[in-house]
Amino acid sequence: TTVEWEAESYDMGGHDTYMHKEIHEQVDAVDRVLRGRIDDRFSTVHLGGLNLDAREARGVRRVKILGCGSAYHTGLIGAQLIEELARIPADAEPASEFRYRNPVVDPDTLYIAVSQSGETYDTLAAVQELKRKGARVLGVINVVGSAIARETDGGVYVHAGPEVCVVSTKCFTNTAVAFALLALHLGRIRDLSVADGKRIIAGLRKLPEQIAEVLRGEEEIKKLATEYANAKSMMFVGRVRGYPVAREASLKLKEVSYVHAEAYPASELKHGPLALIEPEVPTVAVLPDDDLLEKNRATLEEIKARSGRILAVAHREQAKADHTIVVPRNEVELDPILMGIPLQLLAYHTALALGRDIDKPRNLAKSVTVE
Ligand code: G6P
Repeated sequence: TTVEWEAESYDMGGHDTYMHKEIHEQVDAVDRVLRGRIDDRFSTVHLGGLNLDAREARGVRRVKILGCGSAYHTGLIGAQLIEELARIPADAEPASEFRYRNPVVDPDTLYIAVSQSGETYDTLAAVQELKRKGARVLGVINVVGSAIARETDGGVYVHAGPEVCVVSTKCFTNTAVAFALLALHLGRIRDLSVADGKRIIAGLRKLPEQIAEVLRGEEEIKKLATEYANAKSMMFVGRVRGYPVAREASLKLKEVSYVHAEAYPASELKHGPLALIEPEVPTVAVLPDDDLLEKNRATLEEIKARSGRILAVAHREQAKADHTIVVPRNEVELDPILMGIPLQLLAYHTALALGRDIDKPRNLAKSVTVE
């Protein structure tokens, strides 16, 4: 059966928009995706619906993640988590592209379909094509009993609760956390040590409080949003862990504020987009405190040298940036999850400053169930 909800039947709980409400619900939502799943005894997690035993998990040689829009972006985060924690080669691809290109379907690859609604037609069609070719497909899905959930062999429910605003916020975050759980689970079956398992579990447990901390900085982000709202275009950059965060933040800004934005790997800036940098085209740089921080700082210098304005998202003030949004530190693998949250608020407050229809942006639908 399909669980459905009516937007009108959900109360706004004192918020002016569902988007704002859903951004603030993330503290509880993340708590929910973790609840009952952590197994301290073996420093792993229990995922009851996965339908993949340890022997099968050990046989997986590749992971391919498929989704559309924000779901695809969480897949990019998921692929990095699976590679890092489970050391299985993993990548993500838009489900629509995948299904139109006659992909090679490999029996040793684990396919994962990601979808908030579980009804996106392109993702469903990709799953059906994979099933027809005998592949094993798991789902990372929010809506229990949805079409994609029914088609897949098993998976991880995201438990974000109903998401009404067309642009995804809490479901994006919860899906990324669900991928961290899956990566930890696969990692502990393979070569991830007990110590690393414990470290990731401790990091996961810290997430809700750290999200609350980020949300307490909303007033400051609102001021920054008003300052940058008149940009001609915005550039979002990040390297490796920061890159999917930049991609999603750029999408969020476009969808809800209609400000043009581009996302680029910071390392690719010099291969073209640097030509766009000028004071009217500010850059949002995602700078986690990992081994690439120095490289990222060099990118900030290149942007400054072209008189670009910079808004950094980092764990401490960045001297080269005009402004820094400081985000609490977690474990390096989990930092991208937290770094996305202030950028949801940035998109929200930019849209608010520009008077946009926040919950129902023009030309968009919450789930695209047609081709
Ligand atoms: C639509 C929505 C996006 C969403 C995408 C995938 O394009 O506007 O916000 O990310 O569908 O939706 P899904 O329900 O599959 O996650």
